Amino acid sequence: MGSARPDPYRVWLSEIMLQQTTVAMARPYFEKFTYRWPDVEALASAPEDEVMAAWAGLGYYARARNLIACARAVAAAGGFPDNEAELRKLPGVGRYTAAAIASIAFGQRAIVVDANVERVVSRLFAVKQPLPGARERIYELVDSITPPGGSGDFAQAMMDLGATICIPRAPRCGHCPIAQHCAGRAEGDPARYPIKAAKLPRPHKEGMAYWLQHQGNVLLVRRPGKGMLGGMLALPTGLWSEQAEPGQSAPVAVEWTEAGNVDHVFTHFSLSMRLFCAETHVTSGAAGIWWPIDRIADAGLPTLFAKLAERGTAWSIGAALLAA
Ligand code: ADE
Repeated sequence: MGSARPDPYRVWLSEIMLQQTTVAMARPYFEKFTYRWPDVEALASAPEDEVMAAWAGLGYYARARNLIACARAVAAAGGFPDNEAELRKLPGVGRYTAAAIASIAFGQRAIVVDANVERVVSRLFAVKQPLPGARERIYELVDSITPPGGSGDFAQAMMDLGATICIPRAPRCGHCPIAQHCAGRAEGDPARYPIKAAKLPRPHKEGMAYWLQHQGNVLLVRRPGKGMLGGMLALPTGLWSEQAEPGQSAPVAVEWTEAGNVDHVFTHFSLSMRLFCAETHVTSGAAGIWWPIDRIADAGLPTLFAKLAERGTAWSIGAALLAA
């Protein structure tokens, strides 16, 4: 790292994108966003729908909604605040992100703890208490080794160590610059750390989605504000519940053809969606946006709905061939 401080906008944007997402996955999005919206003022004045569509595929769409709200708050205030306490007040900026921005962009000493740092430190000190209960203890331990100056570089070095050497299953201790200080390694089995409390199995849900087409267009709806995939364009769906009945919450009463099934795993549940397809001759009574099927890739559908749309498009082509 050079001595010039990085741009807070780019630090903030990358940290938001990197929450729950790998660097490889986030990189093309970071490049796309910084090309299209090179500073926080540009992002703040972008239409919300465009930002949501540009985010499509990254997941965790609450982050994108917070991103827009945060950009607008920062632009209105004339720039990013330079300290953790004020950063924490911004939408979508929690303890980790505030600490990362304060240290990396503003050179302030801050305690930066993400999942990588948690793993490194729980091994380094052989922390016996399981996560998530051990979080405060780990925070204190990170505080105890964070230097007074250069804490941004220190934090990024710890994160990189966790991402490349002190990796989850088979840590590469032979390459580790601090292996001789590691209590977990001295015990003989560093990979047993961090110890985790037993997890409940991920619940499974089922649902239905509807591909309703009319003269080469398909009906899309914008999902309501704060719920799952809120603010994103999507196919109409029924409730996502443990037991759903066919036809429930269909956008219109027509003859539906079942056209397959799409499975998708979210953080808190897995979902199996049955797709029902139909051609309608009337567009009245169906609320939403009629989107050209041959431009469905431009709709910015989140991954679940992009997979369903692929099936819907295949059904559509089959139906056209049958009718010909
Ligand atoms: N993961 C998330 N933010 C990071 C950063 N600034 N450096 C390294 N890894 C990261």
